[in-house]
Formats: sequence, structure tokens, C-alpha cells
Amino acid sequence: MKILFYDTKSYDEKFFREALANFHGIEIEFTRSDLDIRTASLAQGFDAVCAFVSSDVSAPVLTILHRQGIRLVLMRCAGYNNVDLKAAAEYDIRIMRVPGYSPEAVAEHAMALALASNRRIHKAYNKVRENDFSLNGLMGFNFYGKTAGIIGTGKIGAAMCRICHGFGMKVIAYDVYENPSLKNNVEYVSLEQLLAESDLISLHCPLTDSTYHIINIDTIKKMKDGVILVNTSRGALVNTEDLIEGIRLPKFSGVGLDVYEEETRNVFEDRSDEILEHSTTARLLSFPHVVITSHQGFFTREALSAIADTTLLNAMDALAGKPSANDVTHSS
Ligand code: NAI
Repeated sequence: MKILFYDTKSYDEKFFREALANFHGIEIEFTRSDLDIRTASLAQGFDAVCAFVSSDVSAPVLTILHRQGIRLVLMRCAGYNNVDLKAAAEYDIRIMRVPGYSPEAVAEHAMALALASNRRIHKAYNKVRENDFSLNGLMGFNFYGKTAGIIGTGKIGAAMCRICHGFGMKVIAYDVYENPSLKNNVEYVSLEQLLAESDLISLHCPLTDSTYHIINIDTIKKMKDGVILVNTSRGALVNTEDLIEGIRLPKFSGVGLDVYEEETRNVFEDRSDEILEHSTTARLLSFPHVVITSHQGFFTREALSAIADTTLLNAMDALAGKPSANDVTHSS
């Protein structure tokens, strides 16, 4: 099976080449280009493509892939909100993903963002570099004894619950299903109650029609004053314009974002030489207690190695025609 890997960086190549030694019958080519309507034609002559979080796996792109004989799209990530599942099923294109490759990688980053924005680590770092050893503007609050509200308690949300519990926080959660592994340390509550009681709110649900803009001006107004909001899940869970309005209220002590609505043009690109287009991201960055990272929650050695192994295992299952728990669609 020949697979074209889109949107790859040197670290992807390193981890996939290392993992490939344990898989036979698979050939890989890497391209820096991301998958979209212009680059889909590069897949001519391949059996499968491998795509990532910012790839465009919409119906028009799937049409081109299908025309070229592609019947397998390997997502080397957990989320698949960028895939048109209906079109994939119509074209009988199998979509596979890597669920839960290292939940702790993302959860630990979520806590890092919470701590950084609360204790203003980003500001303190720059101040000390400028020989400014004053503490003005750096005051935070203790997490110990406070309430963490976790929205979505799947693999990553559960890891975040364990971390918050370890910090001595009361942990409450909202999910459409309760995770039985959390029953000793987590109390499930309604979304309303979570918004009203939490000092730290961390988002760990997938982006779906029901979670799109789950954080909007109405839900923000229901939050406690001085709350910290962290999003490491998907940008469109938060309505950015409403978030800016909420910051101005001022509602938040801190905001930590690893994902945000406008991220697609930025993710994993060095744009430091560019004058950025009119951007709500720039407006967000103008606030002193907002910390933004560029979708790096997954970026640990353990996670990259697990992503490579599972993606290649998915390819082997597809090659053997075996169903898999990692199937997102598999209609044939
Ligand atoms: P998961 O599938 O294990 O858990 C998702 C949880 O959200 C489930 O418990 C589900 O019941 C819940 N959920 C679904 N709809 C909901 C709703 N309307 N309200 C409340 N809860 C709802 O997924 P996992 O592995 O924990 O990943 C969560 C998300 O994290 C992914 O969808 C992805 O978007 C994001 N992610 C971000 C990464 C990063 O680098 N920043 C890396 C990996 C994943």
C-alpha cells in the first residue's frame, strides 16, 4: 500500500520512518503541502492518503481523491470534524483515526495553559528578561481548594480531571455520558451548574453541531467572575467575538487557548516575517492574561510515537480488510 502523507514536518517524518521498520507492505511518501482542493491531485498513483487537523477533507476534496482511486484516508489525529463523513460514505472512502494516542499529553498542556495564564508566566518571563523584577500584574490565585469544571470527560477530559484532583481541586464535570472511571473523584452536574460554580473551565468535548460555540456570550455571562477558561479541544467550541466581549466585561482571570477559530492559516507555520491579515487572534493576543499556543497539545515524544504506530496499524487493518475500532466510517 502506497500512502501519501500530507502536511508533514521533519518530526512527522522522523517518527513515521522509525515506526515503519515494524510494518511491512507499506510505502510512505511525505509532502509538506496540506490536503486541499489544489493538492488532492498529488494523490494520483497512491492507494491512501494521510491527513491532519487542518487538512481539508471536504466533499469536493473527497471527490478528487475518489476519482484517483483513493479508498482510505488515515487521519493522524483524534478529531475528524474536518472530514465530510457523508461524502466519504457515499464514495466508500474509509476514514480511520487515532483516538486517545496520549490523553495526558493534551491534558498536561491544558493545565500548563491554565497555570501560565493564572500566574502570568508569559509576562513574568519577558519582564525578568528585561531586568524588570517587579511583581506588578502577576498576581494569580491558588488552584488548591477551588473548583475545576471539565466539559467532556472522554480520554483527555478524564486525564484533566485526574490532574485537577491531584492539585486538590473539587472536580465537577458535564458530559452527555458519564465516565465510570471517574466516579470516585468527579461529580457530574448540568452545564448551567458547571458554568456557575467553576473557577477553572476546561473544554474537552469534540466539535459537533451540538458543541459548536458552546462557549458564547450567554454561557460566558453564566460563568463566575474571575474564571479561567482553557480550550485545547477545537477552536469553534468558542465563539471568538463573544470571548473578546467576555474578556472586556471583564469576566476572566485568564484564558488559555491551544486552539481557536482562526487557527487554520497559522497552525504549524512560521509567519513571523508577515504582516498578518485583519485578525481576531491579534485582538485576543492584545489582552495581558490571554495565552495562546499553536495546537501543540499533542506534541510530546510519547504522543508522536503512538500516533505513528496506530496510523500504520490502521493502514495494515485496511490492507487486510479488517474492521477496526479506529474506523470513523467504513461502509463496505
Ligand atoms: P473522546 O471521544 O475520548 O471524549 C470526548 C468526550 O466528549 C466524550 O466523553 C463525549 O461523550 C463528550 N461529548 C460529546 N458531545 C458532548 C456534548 N455535547 N457536551 C459535553 N460532552 C460531550 O475524545 P478525546 O480523545 O478526549 O479528545 C477530545 C477532543 O480533544 C477531540 O475531539 C479533539 O478535538 C481534541 N484534541 C486536541 C488535541 C490538541 O493537540 N490540542 C489533540 C487531540 C485531541
